[in-house]
Amino acid sequence: MEKDKLIHLADHSAEKTNACGIDRILGAVTKALNQIVLSLLFTSAICSSAIATEVKPLLNFDARILPNIATKGMVATQESRATKVGVQILNQGGNAVDAAVAVGFALAVTLPRAGNLGGGGFMMVYDQKSKKVEALDYREKAPKAAYRDMFLDKGLNVDKKKTRYSVFSAGVPGTVAGLLEAHRKYGHLPLEKLIEPAIKLATELPMSFAMAESLNRKKKYMSRSKVSLETYYKADGSAWNIGDTIYQPKLAKVLAGILKSNGNSFYKGDTATKIIDFIKSQGGIMTMDDLASYRPVWRTPLEAKFGDATIYSMPPPSSGGIHLVQLLNIIQNFPIERAGHNTAYSVHMSTEAMKFAYADRSKYLGDPDFVKIPVKKLVSVDYAKTIASKISFDKVLESSEVSPGMYLSDESPQTTHFSIIDKDGNMVSNTYTLNFSFGSGITVPGTGMILNNEMDDFSAKAGVPNGYGLLGGDANAIEAEKRPLSSMTPVLVLNNKEPWLETGSPGGSRIITIVYNFLMNKMVHNMNIASATVAPRIHHQWYPEVLMLEKGFPLDTAKILKQKGHKIKFYNPWGSLQSVEMKNGVFFGFSDTRRPGALAEGINSLAEEAK
Ligand code: DON
Repeated sequence: MEKDKLIHLADHSAEKTNACGIDRILGAVTKALNQIVLSLLFTSAICSSAIATEVKPLLNFDARILPNIATKGMVATQESRATKVGVQILNQGGNAVDAAVAVGFALAVTLPRAGNLGGGGFMMVYDQKSKKVEALDYREKAPKAAYRDMFLDKGLNVDKKKTRYSVFSAGVPGTVAGLLEAHRKYGHLPLEKLIEPAIKLATELPMSFAMAESLNRKKKYMSRSKVSLETYYKADGSAWNIGDTIYQPKLAKVLAGILKSNGNSFYKGDTATKIIDFIKSQGGIMTMDDLASYRPVWRTPLEAKFGDATIYSMPPPSSGGIHLVQLLNIIQNFPIERAGHNTAYSVHMSTEAMKFAYADRSKYLGDPDFVKIPVKKLVSVDYAKTIASKISFDKVLESSEVSPGMYLSDESPQTTHFSIIDKDGNMVSNTYTLNFSFGSGITVPGTGMILNNEMDDFSAKAGVPNGYGLLGGDANAIEAEKRPLSSMTPVLVLNNKEPWLETGSPGGSRIITIVYNFLMNKMVHNMNIASATVAPRIHHQWYPEVLMLEKGFPLDTAKILKQKGHKIKFYNPWGSLQSVEMKNGVFFGFSDTRRPGALAEGINSLAEEAK
């Protein structure tokens, strides 16, 4: 192996030294206690260099869990077959966006509970050549005939069945337009290479444990729609087993149509007609014009500094970026590193910060094309300082003591994430969704495609919580062609202006704090991405007034928090982060272990180069 490859493997921040020899390197290792240097594998070559480098570890061996390691790119998704499609595209010379587009279509087949054609999402792209980060908004929109009180019944109560499980639940789907737009702008390989793997998987797919489990578990939910039952379940009514085969010929045809017509079939042609005929037959309001006029939008990402790192995240209509930045800004006022990970102090301070962030969310956040959001103020360091000054370890604030924008000066369960990085350092961080697991549960006849229930992300009535317990008001009220407010938080992080980290998760309202917990674990507590992922999570969203702790959170610490006055509840683990990291040319990947079937896999050239 040549010298410059080795230098890559050492951390850039390593001190230069003239000393050479394994003793010297082992000395450094001993000093760092049980940290072991990945680059030790290449010690002899390092020593032949004129100026040796005292290497810092890329991976500390102080954790019980390590990520996957590779040298030429990494793909982390919720479903192993989709991950393999991404890896295959990178191997064929595709870039991160090519792989993302292929993964996006593949997940629509292999992860029907969240992967989708009938939903929407957000994609963050880092382009290594221009060093630019862009955010693609392909969130669903309300149909043109939608209106503020459309989900209120005669008694002016929210009709939850209508918001969540009917053809009215669906926003105009954005996924197909979004994936095609990402490809148009950044793609390198022809579209057919990116859609064909999904067509193949739809034609014939062996049932995995994870897919069988999720379909069997949700059979009752899906049985509201006869077509969902016919599409996703066996004709004899028996349960799915591992090793069975599922055939999705209608979905394969829709995908082939998209490929052949560059999306026109979906928004204007064959598939569009099927979607609208069905929705109309059920009395719904979406029209051919709604589909034909749908466009994704490139938006400027939100940017925040944290030490040497710059975090890029999704601006509105996601609330994710704003509140992630807000939380990070607030927490930087406290000595969290010294206090330690998940100690009573750290959890308390984060919890109080979360109350302020979610209170602001309820009032100010909505579709930026419709409402004026005080973004600059919300993400400003000064505003965070003011909030921080109201937070103290001595007091637990009641939710009623916190109200939206209190210190802001006047001015007018299912989603899925994937993270991909290619050998050149281009990155894609994408979260997309049908909203609930299997969306509305309604499959459009003749398409094999499930409709989202994203309209429930609007505030159907001020003060009435949505499916995730979130409150909202005017800013997120329903309007024609408006995008419902989202919590999806795909992030990209650069370190010293170089690609470093990307992550994202499902989890409804908890997505923002899942990503926050992870970034704190990485940036403050210096964990590897595997440890940062599996560490027990905490969440508070102002209302309901409860500090949610994951099972596995230390009981003694929970006791201290309870004694302080926090209203604590333990919950089953939540979220599913899909993360990749790059350090000095080495790629790390990790798929959350909270749900089955996920896979982080890289392209590894080490074996070949060693020959
Ligand atoms: O956009 C949003 O915030 C929600 N529709 C996300 C839903 C979700 O994460 C469900 N997954 N557990």
